[in-house]
Formats: sequence, C-alpha cells, structure tokens
Amino acid sequence: MRRILLYLSEHPQVFRFVRNGSLPRRLASRFVAGETLDSAVQAVRELNAKGISATLDLLGESVTRADEAAAAADTAIRMLERIAQDRLDSNISVKLTQFGMDIDESACVQNTRRILERARELDIFVRLDMESSAYTQRTLDIAEKQLYPGYPKHVGVVIQSYLYRSKSDVARLIALGMRVRLCKGAYKEPPAVAWPDKRDVDASYAELMQQLLERGNYPALATHDEALIAQAKRFVSERGIPRDRFEFQMLYGVRRDLQDQLVREGYRMRVYVPFGTQWYPYLMRRLAERPANVAFILGNVVKESLRR
Ligand code: FDA
Repeated sequence: MRRILLYLSEHPQVFRFVRNGSLPRRLASRFVAGETLDSAVQAVRELNAKGISATLDLLGESVTRADEAAAAADTAIRMLERIAQDRLDSNISVKLTQFGMDIDESACVQNTRRILERARELDIFVRLDMESSAYTQRTLDIAEKQLYPGYPKHVGVVIQSYLYRSKSDVARLIALGMRVRLCKGAYKEPPAVAWPDKRDVDASYAELMQQLLERGNYPALATHDEALIAQAKRFVSERGIPRDRFEFQMLYGVRRDLQDQLVREGYRMRVYVPFGTQWYPYLMRRLAERPANVAFILGNVVKESLRR
C-alpha cells in the first residue's frame, strides 16, 4: 500500500482525474488548510490561539517555466507580508524546485534571494524544505554557499535521517551555525542512498537529534514519533538544555492531541500548514506514511454522509 501511494504521489496526471471529486477533496482537507491564503491564515490563527506557532507552506513542486517560478516567489513574498500584516506567529517553508531549480539554478537563487530580502526586512524566518535525494546536494550547496552568508538569521534547511549522508551534513551544518529541521524523510528512496529499514532510520534520527540539541542552532525536531519525542525530552532534561533552545514540529492534522499535550507541558511547538491547489502529491505522501489513514478518513467521510 505504501509503495502504491508513493508511486501515485509521483504521477500527478492521476490528479487531473481526482482534483474535482468531492471525496479526494475531503480526504485532503484533513491534511491541507484549504486552497487559498485566507483559509491557511484562518488555520494559523486557530493554532496561535492554542499557543502553537506555524510555518506556512504553499503547495507546489517542480515548475517547468521561468514565469511560474517567479510567480511562486511573488506568492511567497505575499505570504510573508500577510504574516507581518496580521501579526501571525508563523514563518514560511518553501521548496527550491518551486523557484526554478530544475530550469535555471541562477534564476532559482535570484528568486529565493528576493524572498529572503523581504523576510529579513520583516524579520521572518524561511525554511527550505528538503525534496528527494536527487536534490539534496544542490539544495545544500545553494543554501550554504549562496544564501546563508547573506541571510544567516533568516534561512535554514531540512535534513532527512533516512539518508546515509545526513551524519556528515549535520556535522557541517552545526559547524556553520545554520538552523536545521530534522525529519525522517518522506520520499521513495533506493537502498543505495537511504536505510530501507525503519529501525535504522529511527536510530539515525535519535543520533542526529542529540547532536543538534547539544550543539546545533535552534534545531527543529519534526516528528510525530512518541518514542523519539520522549527521548528528546529526557535528553534535554539530563543535559539542562533550556526549552527555548529548540522546538518540536508536526504536520497540520496529524496527532493534534500530542501537539496540545507538548504545549501544555511547556515545550515549543510549530505546525506545518500547507495550502494551495496543488495538494495531490502532498496528500499521497501523508497517506503513504500511514496507510491506515485511508481507511480512517474514508470511514469518517461515510459516517458524516450517513448523518446528513
Ligand atoms: P513515523 O512515520 O515513524 O510515524 C510515527 C507515528 O506518527 C506513527 O505511528 C503515527 O502515529 C504518527 N504519524 C506519522 N505520520 C502520520 C500521518 N501522515 N498521519 C497520521 N499519523 C501519522 N519530509 C521531507 O522529506 N522533507 C521535508 O522537508 C519535510 N518537512 C517536514 C516538516 C514537518 C514539520 C514534519 C512534521 C515533517 C516533515 N517531513 C518532511 C515529513 C517527514 O519526513 C515524515 O515523513 C513524517 O513526519 C512522518 O514521520 P514521523 O517522524 O512522524 O515518524
């Protein structure tokens, strides 16, 4: 099931058939905060009211034309301006392929610099999401060499614990002082680059998490894994690491109970709030992480329909 869902996530042509169906839309609404910036802002307000910070993500991946890439950068700037105008407790997350990494790398860097320029003026942080392993080296090269020197306080990257290379990436990023979000990784990767066994991915996460908590710059621990969250809590308490030196992060619609619990316990929590019309690959990756979600959400949809 997981493999089928990840396969479907990479075949957006299927999306054309499903986009207008009411069932896929309702499936998506569990994980996506609507198709417009207004609907995402409403979701951020609700999170902020509960003491949870947000990171806004405009859904959309690799673009194929320079004008689309520039338009995506304009939208990211509008998101920053809306955050400032509405005084939201939120930053933004973006993908470099949205700004043209596959078309023209220098234009992609220019688009991203344009966003970071505005982010610095408004003092809002911008996270560069990590995509599949085909992009890891290029994303890190652009981030470390071309963006971080000019915007050290306003740009950070994501490291995926399933990649063998991540240990040396984390060591280098700690030495550089760049902010890192640590996640397990959401793409279909071959055993040549990533651990196929979940136990190894989890062990790698635990090791990288400890290094980042000890020596990293405000690390973000992005996971819903209760065992790893418990380990993080034990580690910071044993080492006397203050709770304002790191944050937990989770996805919109996933483990809301755990999000609230961590806030009650006094930890910082940020929720990733995706929005936009291009929700199909994102939804498929979320369903692949927990195929039981398909049955769970379908069950809810049927129950709601029967109640009407
Ligand atoms: P794992 O998959 O082991 O799940 C642990 C437990 O969490 C499950 O048993 C279940 O209870 C719950 N859970 C996890 N996913 C769920 C779901 N979809 N629905 C319901 N319950 C679920 N990836 C990437 O490659 N690049 C990136 O830039 C990012 N960015 C990112 C930001 C943030 C804030 C988060 C939280 C995650 C990402 N990810 C990501 C995704 C990440 O790599 C990973 O795929 C998911 O977080 C799921 O992994 P867990 O760490 O939660 O563990």
